[in-house]
Parts: sequence; C-alpha cells; structure tokens
Amino acid sequence: MDNQVILAIESSCDETAAAIIRNGSEIISNVVASQIDSHKRFGGVVPEIASRHHVEQITVVIEEALAKANMKPTDLDAVAVTEGPGLVGALLIGINAAKAFAFANNLPILGVHHIAGHIYANALVQPMEFPLLALVVSGGHTELVYMKEHGSFEVIGETRDDAAGEAYDKVARVLGLPYPGGPRIDQLAHEGEEAVAFPRVWLEEDSYDFSFSGLKSAVINYKHNMDQRGEEISSTAVAKGFQESVVEVLTAKTLRAARQYNVKQVIAAGGVAANKGLRTSLAVTFADEGIPFYVPPLKLCTDNAAMIGAAATPMFEAGKRDNLTMNGRPGMEL
Ligand code: KG4
Ligand code: ZN
Repeated sequence: MDNQVILAIESSCDETAAAIIRNGSEIISNVVASQIDSHKRFGGVVPEIASRHHVEQITVVIEEALAKANMKPTDLDAVAVTEGPGLVGALLIGINAAKAFAFANNLPILGVHHIAGHIYANALVQPMEFPLLALVVSGGHTELVYMKEHGSFEVIGETRDDAAGEAYDKVARVLGLPYPGGPRIDQLAHEGEEAVAFPRVWLEEDSYDFSFSGLKSAVINYKHNMDQRGEEISSTAVAKGFQESVVEVLTAKTLRAARQYNVKQVIAAGGVAANKGLRTSLAVTFADEGIPFYVPPLKLCTDNAAMIGAAATPMFEAGKRDNLTMNGRPGMEL
C-alpha cells in the first residue's frame, strides 16, 4: 500500500500526544503535551491528575497535529491509539478520543501496544531489518524483545522487579532530585570522577532477565550508613556508580542475546534509551561486534504518538482493524 496516512494518539502515562505519520516512517507532525511539571511536586505520576490533564489536552493536541500537518480528517486512512499497557484512566481518554474521531470521520481504528510503539520509534529513523533484538527500557518496562518479522514480539528477558527507569527515579529521590530523575542522574554521572562501587545483578548464568531492586536497596543502604556516620554523600559518585551498574548489566545481556539469536540489527527504545551512558556503551559494544545498532533521537525515546503511528502502519497493512468496543488494557501483553 502506498501513501498511508495515520493519525496516532498516545495517553498511557503523563504525556498527551498526537502525531500524523506517512507510510510508517515519515513524521508529518508530532505534538507532545507533557504534564511533568504537574506531577513533579508529588515525586511521581499521580494517575488522577494525569487523567484530568489528558481530558483537557487531548482535543487540543489532536487539532494541533492536524493543523501542523496542514491536513483534514479526509486526508487520513486510519486512527491508531495506545490500547495498553498504562494507567487505565489515562489510556481511556486517548482511546475514547480516537473512537470518537474515527466514528465521526468514518475511519478504521487500531489499538497499539505501547512497547511496540517504543520499538517502532526506530522505524522513523531507518528501516527495521529482521531478525532484530530490541532492548526496551522505560519507566514501566525493562525487556529484551526478539523480533523475527513485523508484528512478531518474543520477550526473551524482562525485569523481575523494578523497571530500569523506575530504579533511576527512586535513586534520584534518595538523592533529593526532582521527578523524573533519570535525566538528572545521567547528567550527574557524567560530572563525577569517582564512582561508588555498587553490585551488578546477573541472576542465573543463562538468564536474560533483569533485577534492579537490589541495586536500588544498595544505594539506599549506602546513604543510610553514611548518614549514620555523619558523612556527606557525593551525589555525583553515587549517580556514577549506580549508572555504571545499570549500564554494564543492560549492555552485557543485550550483547549475549544478540549473539545467541544471531540478529541483523540491535535497537534500543524507551525513556531510558535517552541515557547518554547507555547509548554510548551499546554503540561502542556493537560497533566492536559488527552488528548495526540504532537508537532513536531523544525526543522519540520518551513517550510520543509518532512511535504509535509507526507501529500501527505494518499492522494496518497486514489487515488489522479494531472496532468501537476497544477498551483500555492496563496490563496488555506484548
Ligand atoms: O518511555 P518513557 O517516557 O515512559 C514510560 O513508558 O515509562 O520513560 C520514562 C522513564 C523515566 O523513568 C525517566 O526517568 C527515564 O525514562 N529517563 C531516563 C533518561 N531520560 C528519561 N533515565 C535515564 N537517563 C536518561 N537520560
Ligand atoms: Zn513509554
């Protein structure tokens, strides 16, 4: 199919977003309204506040996406929307807006998995080549996903406790940094020269699973012990030590999986893929290994609707259609 134009909507967490994507690879417009400032003072995302902001923003954001693209609903072929996983109240705002838009304009509607979206953010930058391995690291997810073709997702490893981004945000809180802490820790880690030695959690030798709660506890214990001794901790040394531990484990497991599955391409996705330390480590490792490695530009790593449109396109071409009974699926499986 040629010249496929999709309006995509994303509202699973704390960004209200709409985008218009042509042929799964070209961004015509991409609008993201962030709520971060409203959640900051609570130290994390408050679901009820998120839903309320989505209600206020969703129509504005969709209209802006159309206006920036200089398009009318009749220029569109389909509406795609994040169906799950995420906060159910937040998901429902995007889904109901998508349904209303699709019904009013007589367009087909497709539900998209949020993590498939993060992975397909890469399709907006260069063509995906299969088989590929995706490292998905966000506030809610840490997964190694093997894809043998479009639409086929095999989760070969995942976190058994905290997601990588969640660990970043919790450690940031221990250091007294504002939400979301990931970008700030990343920055501090680069400012530091010394690093506190924190453990690496490898789990069983052949496992591709991850665990970050022990590392988070190690940081909390370290701060507690230092406080008891009346000593000041160095935020940069803690950030650097923590980041080194996370990046080393993520990189090593991704490399081992890429070798075992003999993939043609490795991609990183999700908010934590914006991390400078992780991007550099993966880039260097896979350059040495001779496997092409890609990561989207920063603004396509964190939540956006362009990635939802990119993921929806091959599904749409394969004939997937949903209908107006679509519901939010907070625990949706990939
Ligand atoms: O993908 P995303 O925008 O939302 C979810 O689907 O979760 O990811 C947000 C997460 C937050 O935990 C945030 O702290 C983390 O991504 N993050 C980072 C960086 N930028 C965002 N973590 C580490 N380093 C960064 N530079
Ligand atoms: Zn996300």
